[in-house]
Amino acid sequence: MIANQRLLPERHLDRAAYTDFGGYRGLDAVAADPATARQRLLDTDLTGLGGAHFPLARKVAALLDQPGPRALVCNAAEDEPGSGKDRTLLGRNPHLVLEGALIAAAAIEATDIVLYISEGATDAHQAMSTALAEAAQSPAIHDVNRVRVVSAGAHYVAGEATAAVDAINGGSGKPTGQPPYPTSCGIGRLPTLVANCETLANLPRLVGTPAGHEHPRTRLATVSGAVAAPGVYEVDPSTDTFADLFERAGQITGSGQLKAFQPGGPSSSFLDSRSAATLIDNGAVRAAGSQPGCLAVRVIAADTCIVEICQEITGFFAREQCGQCPPCRMKTQTYHRTIQTIAANKGNWDLLDKLSAVEEFVSDMPRRCSLIDMPTAPLRSARALFPADFAAHIDSGRCRWPQPVHTLTTPGEPSSHTATSPLQGASS
Ligand SMILES: Cc1cc2nc3c(=O)[nH]c(=O)nc-3n(C[C@H](O)[C@H](O)[C@H](O)COP(=O)(O)O)c2cc1C
Ligand code: SF4
Repeated sequence: MIANQRLLPERHLDRAAYTDFGGYRGLDAVAADPATARQRLLDTDLTGLGGAHFPLARKVAALLDQPGPRALVCNAAEDEPGSGKDRTLLGRNPHLVLEGALIAAAAIEATDIVLYISEGATDAHQAMSTALAEAAQSPAIHDVNRVRVVSAGAHYVAGEATAAVDAINGGSGKPTGQPPYPTSCGIGRLPTLVANCETLANLPRLVGTPAGHEHPRTRLATVSGAVAAPGVYEVDPSTDTFADLFERAGQITGSGQLKAFQPGGPSSSFLDSRSAATLIDNGAVRAAGSQPGCLAVRVIAADTCIVEICQEITGFFAREQCGQCPPCRMKTQTYHRTIQTIAANKGNWDLLDKLSAVEEFVSDMPRRCSLIDMPTAPLRSARALFPADFAAHIDSGRCRWPQPVHTLTTPGEPSSHTATSPLQGASS
C-alpha cells in the first residue's frame, strides 16, 4: 500500500492511527537507503505549495551544493488571508507533516529541524506538541529529538522565507532580502531548506511510491467568502474544477450567483464566472489569467462591488507592509488611498490611471520581498473584468450594488461563520 494517499483524513490521526494507515514507512525507507530518497527529491517536479511554486528539486540541489551541517524549516506561518490549509493539516494529520519534515531532513542531512507555526494556530500547536511526544516514545522514528517548534508572529511578512529565518534566529521576523539565500546561509548561519508545511506533507507519499510511478497529487484549497460552507477541501488537480469546489463548499450565498473568484489569495488576479470550469491545476489557473498561489480561494457573489473588495485588499497590503523599503510603503499606501477615494465616490479616471505611473516609478527600486508587487494583479484584473463597477463610483457617484461587502469567514473552520473578512482577520 502507498502510504498517505490523501493529506487530510476525516478525523485527527494519532500516531497509532497514522501508523495503521501506512505512516512512517517512507521514513523507514529513507533511513534504510538515504541516497535513493535524496535522488527522489532531486528528481521530483513537485513545486512549493507556500505560494511561489518554486521547484523543490532546485532548492534541494542548491542546498546539497553547500557543505553540511544543514538545517530545515517547515513553514507553517500561514498569515495569508483566507488560507487555513497548513493549520488544518497540522491539526488533523500532524504525523504526516512530521514524517515529511524528517524525510527532508534525512535527505539533506539537517541537524536542526524547525517547525515554524503561526502563534495564533493553537490547535496546530497542540496537535504537534502531542505528536512530538508520541514520536519521541518510538525508537523507530529517527531524529525526532532534533525537531523544535518556533512560533511565528501574527503578521503576514513573518512567513516570507528570509523573515522566517530571521525570526528563528531571534530577530524581529522581517524580510532581510536575498542574497544570501537561506539555502546558503539560514538558521544559525547553516545552509537551510525553507519549505512549506503542505510541500513537506507530500514527501511521505513521494518516497513511498515506487520509482517510475506517479505519486498522488491532491492539494489543499481553502475556500472563503460567499459560500455556505467555507473551509479546507482536498482537491485533485487533474479532475476537480473550481465549480466542483464551490459546490462542495455549499454553493454561493448572497445573490446565489458567482461574480468572481480569486484562486490564489489576495495577490492573485480575479477570474469571473466564465472561468469556474477551470481545473484547479497550476497550469490551468495560469492559462485562465490568474495565479494559483497557496489556493486560498475567495468567492465573490454577483451583487458585490468589486471596488469595495479592492479597497479591502489594498488596505491589507498597506497595513501589512513592514516599512523597511520606501518604494513599498509608497506604492501600497498610494494604491490604498486611491481606491479609498474611488470607493468614496470622490475619484476620477486620471487618479486611477496614475497607479500605472506609480508602478513604473517603483519597478526598478530595491525591495526586500515581493509584497510590493502584490496589489497590482488584483487591481488590474478587477478593472479589466468589472469596468462598470468602477464607472459607477467615478461617473455616477454611487455604487451599483445595494449590498455591503459580504460577511466572510475565518479560514480553517469549515462549519463556522464569523463577522470578519479573511483580510480583516489576518491583521487583527
Ligand atoms: C509576504 C510573504 C509572506 C509569505 N508567507 C508564507 C507563509 O506563511 N508560508 C509559506 O510557506 N510561505 C510563505 N511565503 C513564501 C516563502 O517566502 C517561501 O517561498 C516558502 O516558504 C517556500 O516554501 P515552498 O517552496 O515549499 O512553497 C511568503 C512570501 C511572502 C513574500
Ligand atoms: S517589500 Fe515591503 S513588505 Fe517586503 S520587506 Fe520591503 S517594506 Fe517590507
